[in-house]
Amino acid sequence: MQRELLQKTALSARALRTLGWHLGGRCVAGEVIALSGPLGAGKTLLTQALARGLGVGFDTRVTSPTFTVVQAYEGRLGLHHADLYRLGSADELHEIGLFEQSVDGVAVIEWPEHGAGAIPEGALWVFITVEGPETRGVRFAGDEAVLARFASALGAGEEGVDPRVYSHDGDDP
Ligand SMILES: Nc1ncnc2c1ncn2[C@@H]1O[C@H](COP(=O)(O)OP(=O)(O)O)[C@@H](O)[C@H]1O
Ligand SMILES: [Mg+2]
Repeated sequence: MQRELLQKTALSARALRTLGWHLGGRCVAGEVIALSGPLGAGKTLLTQALARGLGVGFDTRVTSPTFTVVQAYEGRLGLHHADLYRLGSADELHEIGLFEQSVDGVAVIEWPEHGAGAIPEGALWVFITVEGPETRGVRFAGDEAVLARFASALGAGEEGVDPRVYSHDGDDP
């Protein structure tokens, strides 16, 4: 059953990076995170910070996989970063084999709506809304288990966050 109970408003880019870091730290093998929101919402920015929280080295550039569809990175768990913007259909997503590739790792998916029906049941859905030029709202949806796993990430502060997450060097979305 899908439940929706967690949300936060007025998040700065810095706050979104903090959130991404904490999401990465909480991922388990087989995690699927669907990032929904309009162009420029901060899906890639959030993924970059999530990658660092997942242990992807700071010397590895994490960029938008718009043209490659899926980009893989090594971390504590393997990260498979997908952007379905150019995807024709959900069938194509099955052909790519994203979820087979990421079964022992983490799949983070931008534009998950373009793979409608193919996103697994247990996924965490993160809806990002643009509230103003510099502020975003974030809403979590998913089943009870996944929400329980990630609930504390939404309120977590900067304590324990590697400060390099906040430097844009080489990591502009
Ligand atoms: N509060 C915020 N949260 C996230 N990004 C923000 C925020 N304010 C401004 N931005 C800017 O919005 C852009 C988000 O880009 P990106 O992550 O590529 O979006 P998406 O992948 O959703 O298209 C970045 O240039 C970022 O600096
Ligand atoms: Mg993007």
